[in-house]
Amino acid sequence: MSNAIDLKQAAAARAAELVEDGMNVGLGSGSTAYKFVSLLAERVRNGLKIVGVPTSEITRQLAIKEGITVSTLDETPSLDMTVDGADEMTRSLHLIKGGGGCLLWEKIVAVASSRNVVIADGSKLVETLGRFPLPIEVNKFGLEATRRAIINTFTKCGLNGEITVRQTEDGQVFVTDGGHLILDAALNSIPDPEKLSVQLNLVPGVVENGLFVGISTDAIIATETGLVEWSR
Ligand code: A5P
Repeated sequence: MSNAIDLKQAAAARAAELVEDGMNVGLGSGSTAYKFVSLLAERVRNGLKIVGVPTSEITRQLAIKEGITVSTLDETPSLDMTVDGADEMTRSLHLIKGGGGCLLWEKIVAVASSRNVVIADGSKLVETLGRFPLPIEVNKFGLEATRRAIINTFTKCGLNGEITVRQTEDGQVFVTDGGHLILDAALNSIPDPEKLSVQLNLVPGVVENGLFVGISTDAIIATETGLVEWSR
């Protein structure tokens, strides 16, 4: 029986096959996306010519180490394809992202990309988003006021949830690559992710939220019985 790591590898390998010579490619973050970066690098070492735009510092360092030519979104603002993982996803390709804290850069890169391929193992596929706590990236200033405004937004959307400030494993406050904090909101169920995403981003202090609605174009999901692929 395949384990989750093999499944991630299988989804990443399929996505790496989709990349064509000359493409500008957004490079996602998280364990599944890192597998994609390494597999793509193998193709680069075999002659594939691409430019990679990383969605996090960790991905940038990995891509450079693996020998991928790396650019920034400022230098390369238009991408052919981005490949990234997800914390949860629905069949209609709505996602929760940001488990690794990279959601802001991931969303900016994804929106700059013509095609967005989400790669995951089957455990990420859900009927309704929300079992995974929703990451919300916020400015450091006025953290408590922002937290209260977010709670009010949940109420307005018919939701209620507990919010915790993300910490690192050694108990420090987690700071994103962009210098912000992450609030994780345990909501259990998000029946209308589009509405919640719009409402959250109206809160001053919210920099971005981890709901990706209408952004992903293609899914590659690896299950015990094989790859499942679909597009929107
Ligand atoms: C990073 O912030 C996230 O959006 C990741 O893409 C997401 O957490 C999926 O990570 P794994 O591939 O490690 O499950």
